[in-house]
Amino acid sequence: MPLPKAELHLHVEGTLEPDLAFELAARNGVALPYADTEDLRTAYRFEDLQSFLNLYYELMAVLRTERDFEDLANAYLARAAAQGVRHAEIFFDPQAHLARGVAMGTVVEGLWRALGRSEENHGVSTQLILCFLRDESAESALATLRAAEPYLDRISGVGLDSAEVGHPPAKFREVYEAAAALGLRRVAHAGEEGPPEYITEALDVLGVERIDHGLRCMEDPALVERLVRERIPLTLCPLSNVRLRTVDTLADHPLPAMLDAGLLCTVNSDDPAYFGGYAGDNFDAVRGTLGLTGERLRELARNSFVASFLEHDEERRRR
Ligand code: ADE
Ligand code: ZN
Repeated sequence: MPLPKAELHLHVEGTLEPDLAFELAARNGVALPYADTEDLRTAYRFEDLQSFLNLYYELMAVLRTERDFEDLANAYLARAAAQGVRHAEIFFDPQAHLARGVAMGTVVEGLWRALGRSEENHGVSTQLILCFLRDESAESALATLRAAEPYLDRISGVGLDSAEVGHPPAKFREVYEAAAALGLRRVAHAGEEGPPEYITEALDVLGVERIDHGLRCMEDPALVERLVRERIPLTLCPLSNVRLRTVDTLADHPLPAMLDAGLLCTVNSDDPAYFGGYAGDNFDAVRGTLGLTGERLRELARNSFVASFLEHDEERRRR
C-alpha cells in the first residue's frame, strides 16, 4: 500500500504522456514533428528548464477540445491514485492555450469534467491553480485573470511558472493583489533556477503562502531560518531537479539537509510525463537514493496535507 499523500506541485500539461500525445494528435489532425513515441522520447533530454519548456509548449498543440483536457486530467488522476495520492492541487497554464486560440472555458470546463468527478472516480480530491507565465507580460497575466473570472468557482488559487531567471516575482505585484482581492490563494515558483532573493520577493511582494521548489533557499541561511520560523511550505520535485540539472545527481539533492534544517518540505512530481515519475516514484527515489527512513517519509506525507489548502477551505468560506 503506497503512503497516502497530497500532491501540491503538478502541472497538468506536464502529465501528457507520449501515447496520449499521439492519440490526441491523431484525433485533432495535428502533425507532430516526431515519427512515433520512441522518437519523441529521444527529445526528453534536457539541459535546463528552458530546454524542457520548449518541448512542453510544443506538445501542448495537441490539446484542443474539452474532451482532450478531460482525458489528460483523468489519465493523471488514475496514475496518481495508484501511487497513493488522495488530494491534488493541480496547476494549469491558460496563457499557453489562449495563445493557440483555445478558450479559457474549453480548458477549465474540460479539466473540470475530470476534476469534478475525481473523488467518486479516483478517490482523489482536487483543487485547480491557475498559473501565470512569468516570461509573458504583467498585462497579459492580468488579462488572463480577468478571462478566468467567470470560472472562479472552479479555481482555488494562482501560481507563477515558466522561465524563472530574469523574471522576478515583483513584476506580478498587481495581478497578485487582484487575485488576493478575489479571494484566491497564492503560490509561486521561486528558487528553482532563480536566486534566493526571488523567494523573499515572492513572500513579501506577492504574499504567497507556499513556495514551489524553493531549492536555492539553502544558499541563504537567514532565509532558511525565516522559512522555518514562518512554517512556509516548499513543494520540492526531486526527479524534476535531476532532469533539469538543478542538482547534479539525485544523491546530491539537499532534501535530507532541508528536513534536518526544519523546513516544511513536500515531495511532488512537477511534470511527471517528462521527468520519469509520478508522486509515488518521487517518494521511492528519495527513499532509495537519499536513504530516507520510514519516519522521514511519513513526515513528508504528513507535510503534504499540512501544506495543502484542504484545511483552510472551511475558513475561506467563512471569510
Ligand atoms: N512549467 C512546467 N514545469 C515547470 C517548472 N518545473 N518550472 C517552471 N515552470 C514550469
Ligand atoms: Zn513546476
